[in-house]
Amino acid sequence: MSEEVSYSPGLAGVVAGITQISKVYGDEGRLIYRGYDIRDLARHATYEEVLFLLLEGRLPKKQELEAIQKDLQQEYEVEPRVLKVIDELPTSLPPMDVLRTSVSLLSASDPDYGDDSPEAERRRAIRLVAKTPTLVAYEAVRRLGRTWKGPRSDLSLAANFLYMLHGEPQPESFVAAFDAALILHADHGFNASTFVARAITSTLSDMYSAVVGAIGALKGPLHGGANEAVVHMLQDLKNVDEVESWVKARLERKELVYGFGHRVYKVDDPRALILRESAQRMAKEVGQFERFEIIERMREVMLKEKNLHPNVDLYSGIVYERLGIPTEFFTPIFAISRMGGWVAHVMEQRADNKILRPSEWYKGPDHLTYVPLEERG
Ligand code: COA
Repeated sequence: MSEEVSYSPGLAGVVAGITQISKVYGDEGRLIYRGYDIRDLARHATYEEVLFLLLEGRLPKKQELEAIQKDLQQEYEVEPRVLKVIDELPTSLPPMDVLRTSVSLLSASDPDYGDDSPEAERRRAIRLVAKTPTLVAYEAVRRLGRTWKGPRSDLSLAANFLYMLHGEPQPESFVAAFDAALILHADHGFNASTFVARAITSTLSDMYSAVVGAIGALKGPLHGGANEAVVHMLQDLKNVDEVESWVKARLERKELVYGFGHRVYKVDDPRALILRESAQRMAKEVGQFERFEIIERMREVMLKEKNLHPNVDLYSGIVYERLGIPTEFFTPIFAISRMGGWVAHVMEQRADNKILRPSEWYKGPDHLTYVPLEERG
């Protein structure tokens, strides 16, 4: 096959590996984790249950769920020396940079360091999932100038994160909305950051390196950074009547309208539909519909003008805002959730590995004659 024929820009449609973890059915608007529809999981399961499912390939029995909850809770604490390094970082640094740096530091206190057996990898996976919320909350509390109370080992991962951020337990409805958002973002096939994690693992590098690379990929506005970009974009809009002309002008300038479009979904992103319900419910609870109405109008206009549907990032931002999460922490929140998917993919890749090394289509010059420096014009 010629290079031209086999080249697919952005690797679109290229099957780069086999997985049993999750699948996006773009034409049907369906996402499954290990065979279970994301809609069922978001409505009925907890993030801990979903994490067990992603790691083990099946839903946990009662004792197994209790065991994974306990394992996570025992790992919420982060060593003071890691928190000290965070304290030294300037608060002008994007929180994703702080997270990338601090997750990297966790390898220094890994008691299983150098052991890549499945058992050690499983313990490492739990550690990473448990400690990431603590790292994110610590940085948020530091920036907000609040008192750091640390994690609470009697709370679920979702409840504990909101507790650490606000310094007091949050209402059950907030915890449930956050838990559902974590479930919805936990995995998504071979998305860019997961692919990065698998590529790093394929060299037989370690889990920390893989997830640090993934955090770097997630940061970009075409990936995890889009939820933040949505909220910044919405700041331009004060009422629903301005939406149509604003969207049209933006499209005319060939600018993206964040929160719309997807490489795989050609219909509604199922995660967006569930978060839309949460966003609507929360708007009702506080009696503030403006944001929600603006987004709904945007949705109509984007469908009419570009036939583009909302993706998960359109609604997650307004849900997080209601939970009191600062905008610059929306992408780190995504990382908290996606950590569960990344570590599952790292373990799957390691279990059946072949180094990921695609080919390139070279379009540069060839057979040039080297000209000595002093003879170059
Ligand atoms: N706003 C405006 N135009 C958009 C758009 C958006 N959100 N998403 C796609 N398009 C346009 C592209 O400009 C392109 O137009 P063209 O054919 O005139 O050049 C066309 O739709 C196809 O999009 P393309 O960028 O080729 O699709 P992709 O599969 O490479 O990219 C995304 C997918 C998600 C990166 C893209 O839709 C995007 O940038 N969305 C905004 C960022 C975002 O919300 N990301 C979160 C993803 S969960």
